[in-house]
Amino acid sequence: MNINAENNCIVIFGASGDLTYRKLIPALYNLYKIGRLTENFSVLGVSRTELTDDDFRQKMRLALIEFEGAEGEKLDNFCQHLYYIAINTSDALEYGKLVPRLDELHDKYQTGGNTLYYLSTPPSLYGIIPECLAAHGLNTEEFGWKRIIVEKPFGYDMKTAKALDTQIHRFFEEHQIYRIDHYLGKETVQNLLVLRFSNGLFEPLWNRNFIDYVEITGAEQLGVEKRGGYYDGSGAMRDMFQNHLLQVLAMVAMEPPAIINADSMRDEVAKVLHSLHPLSDDDLEHNLVLGQYTSSIIDDKKVNGYLEEVGVPAGSTTETYMALRCEIDNWRWAGVPFYVRTGKRLPTRVTEIVIHFKTTPHPVFSQKAPENKLIIRIQPDEGISMRFGLKKPGAGFEAKEVSMDFRYADLASPSVLTAYDRLLLDAIKGDATLFARTDAVHACWKFVQPIIDYKAENNRIYEYEAGTWGPTQADKLIARTGRVWRKPSGCMKKKV
Ligand code: BG6
Repeated sequence: MNINAENNCIVIFGASGDLTYRKLIPALYNLYKIGRLTENFSVLGVSRTELTDDDFRQKMRLALIEFEGAEGEKLDNFCQHLYYIAINTSDALEYGKLVPRLDELHDKYQTGGNTLYYLSTPPSLYGIIPECLAAHGLNTEEFGWKRIIVEKPFGYDMKTAKALDTQIHRFFEEHQIYRIDHYLGKETVQNLLVLRFSNGLFEPLWNRNFIDYVEITGAEQLGVEKRGGYYDGSGAMRDMFQNHLLQVLAMVAMEPPAIINADSMRDEVAKVLHSLHPLSDDDLEHNLVLGQYTSSIIDDKKVNGYLEEVGVPAGSTTETYMALRCEIDNWRWAGVPFYVRTGKRLPTRVTEIVIHFKTTPHPVFSQKAPENKLIIRIQPDEGISMRFGLKKPGAGFEAKEVSMDFRYADLASPSVLTAYDRLLLDAIKGDATLFARTDAVHACWKFVQPIIDYKAENNRIYEYEAGTWGPTQADKLIARTGRVWRKPSGCMKKKV
């Protein structure tokens, strides 16, 4: 497959928003800088705010200087590819204005009509924009390909996700739809597949015979920042668990794909997500912990509790923390618990997977052997660490835990792509491998729906102080079987 992009025009809806200038434009700039975009591309920013092309270029230039340290000729040349048009994005008639603008850009950049639409808008517009584009024939592939990237959240629950799918499918076919989950664009998430499927060493052990349990942690040190309004309607379950962490779980648990292409890969992802053991009320009663952070003093500074954050309604019961024990009903994983947790305002930012292997069948040396575990650090300090027991120097046969570490940075090449770089490039090239397919999204919602229903009925949210590892109930959840959550190192110490 060609590693570079074809000539194209990228239309960003929601161009005056945060995601555009923090992630999308920097990603396109990086691709341009390392020569992965052709000279024949243009970016058309679309939103309601009245801006000229020059205003838009100026705003994006500042973002690139701030976030990418961009400068010089590359920056000037890149900005020349940026254009802007203001329309009322919920009014189909207004989309008529896009037609001449796009014709002009397709002509100027010889794109053959290839167009990538990026929906970086409030989710309420995800169903409307495709319809408005179609009203002006901007969805048909008679003149160049037309693809549409949809940001998360893809629906709010099972019903709305299905309704959204139906709406988009009326105007775009599945092969044109790219549901983005930026976790799949992370180099280290993809590395999971390479680790598993290009080594003979791990695969024989990667099953219920040798694995005791799996931990997946998505911890964030920050709170909800300025996104209280959005977050309150979402919570940890919809914001992180339903999408990012379930995708990571799928990468840990899936079967090897027959070949690496979009269909085979996504078949395996969907299969494993469909095998998640459905959660009953009884499971949820015992295996789910939801929490909300309260204020605290960290590094001598007061940190707001969730209820004090801007945009959060008084008395909100939205969860900022979630821990769940779940299982996968298939031959490989039957009986192996997966403990997944995520939260805001935890002691550190870390995403990691810990594979805990079973202990030795019999203690040859009098004391209990150290646990064997494989820690796959997705971020930060990406890497893999294998922990096992070796003899403590000196008399006797006492074993101590030692570690063999690999740091991804040791491989780093200047052209490592960030998640958005990689996913935008893939979408431009028409490679949907790392995008969520409709059946996988439905499988995630199907699994999560009982949690949503359970929460609606038993609004049980435990408090945890900002800067701690979540409610103590989460420790009890895992401790019931004699296990403990790993405390990732490098944690910021909470002052007491
Ligand atoms: C986003 C969530 O999708 O992922 C945010 O909306 C969260 O709330 C973010 O902070 C985490 O992404 P990352 O790449 O920083 O782990």
